[in-house]
Order: sequence, then C-alpha cells, then structure tokens
Amino acid sequence: MDSNTLQALNVQASIISQSGRHAMPTFDEALAVVDDLVGHTRGKSLSEPEILIMRGSWNNREFVEIAEDSPYSINYLQRGVATRLWEILTKTIGYGQRVNKKNVRNFLEQAVQRHHGQSAKYTAIEGLKPSTENLIKLLGGQPPDISNFYGRTEELSTLKKLIAKHRCVSLIGAAGIGKTALAAKLIQEINAEHRHSFDYIIWKSVAHTPSFQDFVNELLTLIYSSESEPALAQFTKATVSMLISYMQAHRCLLILDESDSLFNINNLEQKLEYKLFFRRVIEEVNHSCLLLTHRVFPDDLEDLVVAGRPVSYLKIKGLDANSALQFLYSQGLENEEKCSELVQIYYGNPLELKTVANRINHFFGGSTEKFLENKTTLFSSQLQAMLDQSFGYLLNELQRQIMIYLAEEIAVGSQWTNFNNLLNELKRKLQTYISTSELILALETLEKLSLIETFNDPNSKIINFTLQPAVKKYILKDPQGLVHSSQQMAIAS
Ligand SMILES: Nc1ncnc2c1ncn2[C@@H]1O[C@H](COP(=O)(O)OP(=O)(O)OP(=O)(O)O)[C@@H](O)[C@H]1O
Ligand SMILES: [Mg+2]
Repeated sequence: MDSNTLQALNVQASIISQSGRHAMPTFDEALAVVDDLVGHTRGKSLSEPEILIMRGSWNNREFVEIAEDSPYSINYLQRGVATRLWEILTKTIGYGQRVNKKNVRNFLEQAVQRHHGQSAKYTAIEGLKPSTENLIKLLGGQPPDISNFYGRTEELSTLKKLIAKHRCVSLIGAAGIGKTALAAKLIQEINAEHRHSFDYIIWKSVAHTPSFQDFVNELLTLIYSSESEPALAQFTKATVSMLISYMQAHRCLLILDESDSLFNINNLEQKLEYKLFFRRVIEEVNHSCLLLTHRVFPDDLEDLVVAGRPVSYLKIKGLDANSALQFLYSQGLENEEKCSELVQIYYGNPLELKTVANRINHFFGGSTEKFLENKTTLFSSQLQAMLDQSFGYLLNELQRQIMIYLAEEIAVGSQWTNFNNLLNELKRKLQTYISTSELILALETLEKLSLIETFNDPNSKIINFTLQPAVKKYILKDPQGLVHSSQQMAIAS
C-alpha cells in the first residue's frame, strides 16, 4: 500500500470516527457529487470513458479488464483519458494530495463525506469547502478563484511553517506575482488538513484603506454575527481589546489582503492606531496569526523583526519554469520553446504571463512564435501603474539613477552588474561622491519594491544586480516621461 493510499485511508477513518453516522457511499452517489465538482471546475462534466475508469478503479479492476468491457482500447483509456482524469480529480477532490487509480476510491468517498458534512453557509466560498465536520469557520470577503493554480509547493510549505511559528507573517512580492492567489491556496490547504491549525480564518481585503474604527468594527461584526452574539455598535478603546481577547481565546488566521495602504496612511493618528494594533497582536496573542499580503515590507514591521519579535516574511518571485509553462498551456498557448522564452522575459510573473497570453490569443491567433517575431515586451497595466508610481514619487534620486544605469548596461549587453562596478560607475557618471552605505540603502529599497533582481555569485560571494526585461523596457522608453523627469541628483556631498 503506498503512502498516499495510507494517508487517504487515515483521513477517511478520521472522518468516520468524528461523524460516526455516514454510511459508506455507493459509486453512483460518489459519481453524482464528483461530476458536479468537476463540471464546476473545468466547465465540462465527466465523459463516458472517464466514468468507466472511475467505476473500474472503484471496483479494483485493472485497465485491461476495464477496456475489455468497453468500446475503447486500453491504450486510449490508460494513456489518453486516465492521465487527465487523475489531474482533474487531484484538482477537485485531492485537497493537496495526488489522486491516482489506487487511491481514487478513498478520495471519492471522502468527497461524499465532505459534501454531506458541508454547512450551506460556507459553500459560497469557492474552493474553500470544509474538510471534516470539525469545521474551520471561514469569515469575511471572498478569496479569489484558485481552480487554475500552478506550482508554489515550496512557498506553501514555508508559509505553513511561518504561520505556525510567528504571530505576524508578511507575504511580499511584485505586482501580480501571485500573493493573493497564494494566500487563497493556503486557506484551501489548511482547510483540508486532518488536524486544523486554526478555528477561524478571516479574509479581509484592506485595499480601500478602511479607517481603524471601521476595520475593528467590521472584524467584530464578522466574528460575533458568526457566533450569533450582538456586535458592538460603537467603537471604543474597549472594542480593540475585545478583538485582541478574541484572538487570544481562539486560533484565528486573520488575512489582510493588499495591506500596503495601512502602513502608508497620511493621517498620523490612524497610522498609529493600526501600528499599535499590529504590535498588540504580535505581543499579546499566542495561537493566532496575522497574515498580510503586500508589495513592500513595511519599515514598522522590519523594526519588530530586528527586535526579535515573532514577525516574519516570505518574499515570492515568479512561478518556477515548469509551473509557468503549465500555466501558459492552460491559457491556450502551445509551443514549448517559445513559451519558455515568454517565461524568461516575464520572470514567471503569472499576471504578466496571463496578460501577454491574452494578447497573443487575440492578435496572433494563439501563436507565440508569431508574437515573438516582433521583438517586443508588453506589460500589464498593474506593472505600468507600479512603475509610474515608483518613478513618479517613490524613488529618490540615487535609486532612480541606479535603475537607469542598470537599464543602460543591459541594453549594451551587460546583463548583470556587481556592487563595486555599480558604485564606481555611478560616481563617475554622476560626478559626485556616493558612500557605500548610501548605495546599500538605495539598493535595499529597490529590492523591497521588487524593482531590481539580485544574484549572489556562489564562488566570488559577490552580489550582482539586474532588471526584469519589462522594467528595463519601461526605463528606456519612459512612456510617461517620469524616468528622466527629475532634476540632477542632490546626494549628500
Ligand atoms: N500559482 C498560480 N497559478 C496560476 N495563476 C496564478 C498563480 N498565482 C497567481 N496567478 C494569477 O495571476 C494573477 C495575479 O495574481 P495575484 O492577484 O495573486 O497577484 P498579487 O501578487 O496579489 O498582485 P497585487 O500586488 O496586484 O495584489 C491572477 O489572475 C491570479 O489568478
Ligand atoms: Mg493581491
């Protein structure tokens, strides 16, 4: 018996012992439930040969026997149909584990158990169906659909460890790199765990920068309406303590999506209120965790990391090459070599890949080859907005000059620039004194903003810098006139 089968059997045993009342489903019951789920995920019900394979596997029959009693060849069933069938079943009923011929019956039975145990209240949250009767309560807004999710296995495992150990975890990365999608996938996985590590998961987008009062009241309303107790109508200092007490008494995972704005509020009083709240969660709460997604790791949190508080972060980059390729195929593109080129150009950024795939489908009939004949780098409106914002007002003069220098170097064929070269060349080009610490601080900020890419040479131990092609293109084209707009640098002399 392989480990998957064993694990699946354990899950099943635990479900039965917890519920103690569901009879084992028949194949037809399981088929009805799973057909629905598959239809929902891929927009197409199970086909006749797929059902034959599932029924045969349920009855422990070999492919040769299944084929004998059917109009299909064994080759077609085993290689043509089954491979894709296991993929879609893994996606819909696998809950983090691979479904195959040997274990499919267990997963089908589990799917029926889940279906029966499901509370109607939570079914509206796509992909977040509770896994056992010992439900995690999912409150708040709706996480995005992640039915077409690829890769991120390592990141998910790191994230799970981080949220178990720390009271506040930041998920950071460039625009469109997949922070929100990863957080949604994390919920799905936690929810499918045998022993849940949280009692409540609260999903809240804070992109609209709610006032601190609204933020606290909304959270309390969510929590207490789920407990059928009245929420407080008025915000007082005590309500913040109520929220903290709640997070002390329960194991909550509070996910604040797109939380950059909370750390950049202009209103100082509001900024301080949020800061104090985050501090209290970090210092006073033991079994709950705050998961923040944002593009830049805020200085306020960095101070807490330096002070040794239970705060951590995970910076994510693009999808790994294979997952990015699979993602492009799912968007309708085909040519492996050319798709690999796209993955390199866009550094595996799923939003950029999705945007370019849409354009290739629209303008080039899905031919990546034709698209790549015209040397061009397109980028999404999100990336353009992020770069406009950076060059418009976020970057200081030294940071701006570093970006321009790196872009020009790449244009003349020098892909990577090391620290010393950068320091010397900038001094020469700008004819001004730049200290090592100034350059380090400037590079740290650019890295935090995901504007530069770094590479540590394992032999020389020297750090090298470059830009993503789309960022380089933005700088050289300067579409909004923001890159070169600023006055000569005023670096400390
Ligand atoms: N692992 C993945 N597999 C497939 N698609 C993905 C993956 N990660 C992200 N995507 C897709 O890429 C797009 C951008 O992802 P997402 O919104 O999570 O990015 P983000 O980092 O949160 O961006 P922002 O900084 O703007 O909030 C979405 O359409 C999402 O579905
Ligand atoms: Mg996001």
